[in-house]
Amino acid sequence: MKTIQFSHRIEQVGPSQTLAITHKAKKMKQEGHDVISFGAGEPDLDTPEFIKNAAIDALKKGMTKYSPTSGLPDFKKAIIEKFEKDNGLKYSSDEIIVSNGAKHSLFNAFQVLLNEGDQVLIPSPYWLSYPEMVRLSGGEPVFIETNESDRFKIKPKDLENKISSRAKVLVINSPSNPTGVIYDRSELEEISRIAVKHGLFVISDEIYEKLIYDGKKHVSIASLNTEIKNVTLTVNGMSKAYSMTGWRLGYLAGPREIVEKMDNFQSHATSNPNTFAQYGAVEALLKGGEEIAKMRDVFETRRNLMARELDKISKCSYVCPDGAFYFFVNISKTGMDGARFAEKLLEKQVVAVVPGDVFGSARHIRLSFATSEQNIMKGISRIADFLK
Ligand SMILES: Cc1ncc(COP(=O)(O)O)c(C=O)c1O
Repeated sequence: MKTIQFSHRIEQVGPSQTLAITHKAKKMKQEGHDVISFGAGEPDLDTPEFIKNAAIDALKKGMTKYSPTSGLPDFKKAIIEKFEKDNGLKYSSDEIIVSNGAKHSLFNAFQVLLNEGDQVLIPSPYWLSYPEMVRLSGGEPVFIETNESDRFKIKPKDLENKISSRAKVLVINSPSNPTGVIYDRSELEEISRIAVKHGLFVISDEIYEKLIYDGKKHVSIASLNTEIKNVTLTVNGMSKAYSMTGWRLGYLAGPREIVEKMDNFQSHATSNPNTFAQYGAVEALLKGGEEIAKMRDVFETRRNLMARELDKISKCSYVCPDGAFYFFVNISKTGMDGARFAEKLLEKQVVAVVPGDVFGSARHIRLSFATSEQNIMKGISRIADFLK
């Protein structure tokens, strides 16, 4: 067969390793292995019933046609109310665009902002799709290294040192995947001062906003002042807070001119996100407060349990996550790197974890606590046995 000449863009990226590991663990389970998977990037809880019912009603009423590319007016209205209530941010309808998941919102934002060679500053460890999306958009990822002693947060001077004349966008992800840490108001103020001074756009990925523990509070960087709001794209979505990963609904708020270009782009690439799913999302945003709080409590209990169990393993250390549902565990004392650790652990103890390499650190593995307490007990005890 003739060798296929693929595009340079696609030759630069590989498959998503987190999805690959989740699929591998699922397959092993189907084959009868007693797999414990800490690979999940999604809540294991079901979508609340009232949200499903709203989508079913819409479906039955015939809401099965194309709808406005940038989102249903009712959904945008609910998003505007959410931003005002939760984040102290005021947006109008033409400053909001709904997409097929936060991933899609982020991808579209990079597509409209980046030209060949533009640099995007990404704190490392990072969510694995950021650099790939940047590359697919012609940009160049530039990583800002962080470490455990700073709770994996960027220091202002490290950020400034990385800003070249080609730097265009800074990505902030709080709470973070994979580390679970959150930036507080004063840290965000420092970052925003630097971003404004150097004319950077900020993409603030707040998808884990609702999963924050110990009574801590989420701060949206765009809410700090008008100057930073004018250059910030705030990304959020239904996946994590409402357990709606498969519904594929995310949204972005930002300057009108950018949102308009994203609308143009999306109108040719995918058109509107699923129409009847958006009716379910309206209910979720308007009436989901209690359900979200319940799910958050479940995750906080699991986080505490996983911390307690990990504390029993001397070769593992971690920075306790403030939010999201991951532990980014340092396994360098085991003498293995993340990839080898993950491979051997799956082989010997049938426990699936994600190697830290894919998030920018070979010294770590990522464990998701989006799984039952029973699985957490069993899985961590198997890791302890593995290291004996
Ligand atoms: C940091 C981060 N941003 C965005 C996403 C994508 O979310 P969605 O399901 O809305 O596309 C994820 C999903 O894993 C994530 O971890």
